[in-house]
Amino acid sequence: MSQTSEDRAIKRISVCGKGGSGKSTIVALLAEELSVRDWRVIVLDSDESNACLHWMLGFEYPPRPLLELVGGKKNVQRQMQKTFSDGNTSDMAVLSQPKLAVGDLPADYVVENDGRVLVTVGKIHQSLEGCACPMGVLSREFLKKLQLADDEVLVVDMEAGIEHFGRGVETSIDAVVAVVEPSLESLMLAEKVEQLTSQVGANFVGVIVNKVHSVDIASTLVNELRSRGLPALGAIHYHEELFAASLAGRRIQLTGDEVPNIVDKLLEPRASAR
Ligand SMILES: Nc1ncnc2c1ncn2[C@@H]1O[C@H](COP(=O)(O)OP(=O)(O)OP(=O)(O)O)[C@@H](O)[C@H]1O
Ligand SMILES: [Mg+2]
Repeated sequence: MSQTSEDRAIKRISVCGKGGSGKSTIVALLAEELSVRDWRVIVLDSDESNACLHWMLGFEYPPRPLLELVGGKKNVQRQMQKTFSDGNTSDMAVLSQPKLAVGDLPADYVVENDGRVLVTVGKIHQSLEGCACPMGVLSREFLKKLQLADDEVLVVDMEAGIEHFGRGVETSIDAVVAVVEPSLESLMLAEKVEQLTSQVGANFVGVIVNKVHSVDIASTLVNELRSRGLPALGAIHYHEELFAASLAGRRIQLTGDEVPNIVDKLLEPRASAR
């Protein structure tokens, strides 16, 4: 897809990165800041493994997973097999609606407070229950069909690593963000995320450096990013209060300028690759 010069507002953001780098923490912090700016923030939990995002957002319980709405994982697997045997893999559909807004979902599939809405795709609960592909397929379809109102913005908490790119989850995202903690592994994964993002025609908007213990470490990482051609959106220092809140299952909130500065940069209109 060719780059256009047309400015495009960021409405669909996905947060990717290495396991444990702080994706869910940053999703919660972005949701807080965006809601303060009067956005209705739709958070999609697309990570099939971790179970704490609803607490990070201050919800007592998670919503029912979308996987139940479409008849469960086995049903999606059956449909996947059928679609593969028909040789038609691109148009597979498990959601009955051609388009849907969050308000079209049954009430127990959504939890909402303070301008933040959580929708979750589904989790792996048992050993040997099979791969997470059905969740990837459902995430991709939900994102493709999701209609956002003018005052809504979407933030997706991705599973760790890059497998979601193989499942095409990014095809309906217009801003891919990578989280980098101070490690070479994490930096290299961000590089890979940037490459894969451009391959699917989405916009890689930059890296959030996280869990840095000093200004020096932050600037070393930003320089490393620059040398790899990766733009930095900003840095979040290691804050014990974030760690303590997440350990206690409390809502993640942070005062100071770090998150507002990142959101300012993230929302800057920019040329889209679509
Ligand atoms: N800036 C920070 N300061 C202090 N602790 C942090 C910070 N960011 C994340 N953490 C802590 O690091 C741990 C991992 O964070 P988080 O769960 O957000 O990572 P993740 O990338 O979503 O992990 P996963 O890949 O398992 O989904 C948590 O204990 C969290 O509290
Ligand atoms: Mg997480």
